[in-house]
Amino acid sequence: MAAIGIDTVVKAYGATPVIHGISLSVRDGEFAVLVGPSGCGKSTLLRMIAGLESITGGAIHIGERVVNDLPPRDRDIAMVFQDYALYPHKSVAENIGFGLKMRGADAVTIEKKVKEAAQILQIGHLLDRKPGQLSGGQRQRVAMGRAIVREPKVFLFDEPLSNLDAHLRGEMRAEIKKLHQRFGTTILYVTHDQVEAMTLADRIAILRGGHLEQFDTPDTIYRQPVSTFVAGFVGSPAMNFIPATIAADGTALDLPGGVRLAAPEALRPRLTGLARKPVTLGLRPEHIGLDAGGSAPLTARVTLVEPLGAETLALVRIGTVEVTGRFPPDSGLKPGADIALSVQLQRAHIFDPETGRAL
Ligand SMILES: Nc1ncnc2c1ncn2[C@@H]1O[C@H](COP(=O)(O)OP(=O)(O)O)[C@@H](O)[C@H]1O
Ligand SMILES: [Mg+2]
Repeated sequence: MAAIGIDTVVKAYGATPVIHGISLSVRDGEFAVLVGPSGCGKSTLLRMIAGLESITGGAIHIGERVVNDLPPRDRDIAMVFQDYALYPHKSVAENIGFGLKMRGADAVTIEKKVKEAAQILQIGHLLDRKPGQLSGGQRQRVAMGRAIVREPKVFLFDEPLSNLDAHLRGEMRAEIKKLHQRFGTTILYVTHDQVEAMTLADRIAILRGGHLEQFDTPDTIYRQPVSTFVAGFVGSPAMNFIPATIAADGTALDLPGGVRLAAPEALRPRLTGLARKPVTLGLRPEHIGLDAGGSAPLTARVTLVEPLGAETLALVRIGTVEVTGRFPPDSGLKPGADIALSVQLQRAHIFDPETGRAL
């Protein structure tokens, strides 16, 4: 096992910079997830760690070594890709053992390791088949088997579940988490799926346009996002963003449509210095619900109801803005009805509307 150190790494393709000096360190044995929208540089960063892409500036460490100029095979890593890259004419066993064979391992060792990996991944009965005779999920297991038998210091995954349907994706996600619990090998895992990031990671690195936005535990990313970008990226349904102005005495927020929300005591220290300033108010759907007889209920108009079984999501209009709230399944919400709403403003996030940074 080994830690991964990424130190002000820069990447440019020709004159076009795509990674703008990223630093982050993944601890020995940690499961780190790199997440961000398509094109933000996740694969590029991973491929630089793997040695499949040169780096334009900075340094990459794996364990004690600077690996900038080491070829991929000397880096002690194993990578699993989205498209598996299996050899179509080789059997499952040959595919899993191929890397070992290339390194000159003897046939007995290869067979033993292939069998062990296949057993862990529950594909022991498929060892004689060809990749074309497997389902997508089985192929993904073969690709993982090939990585496991190498016993690398670091696993790198690049969107390994993107080609699977939602059900299989959930199943394989759990398998990958179990593998990490079993082997404890350092993992850097790339995905554009925030649910995968939240469920798998010890820590999540959120990338945006070749910059690192935030690197922290899923809990901190969710509860203390540093920007509207991070806040909007994690959580489903997404956080509501509402333009607001802080009242002159700093004790209330004015929303579009003449709605005034009194700021609870707990929120007030965060509003000091912001009097009369425009802000972006961030509210998670779970902090918007039905009022249970509070002193100053807020009237809202229900515009859309989405029953999900365990809970009901509803779009409600406050003043002139529409927000999503999470309600108990038996709330009896009807489109067009007016309801008394409660907003947990003490849980609100306040952002600078220009920079998007948390205030
Ligand atoms: N070989 C390449 N040549 C030029 N530009 C590239 C190359 N590979 C990736 N890029 C560009 O680098 C940026 C990051 O790409 P990538 O790392 O694949 O993003 P992600 O994996 O987050 O979707 C994109 O703008 C992409 O177009
Ligand atoms: Mg990619």
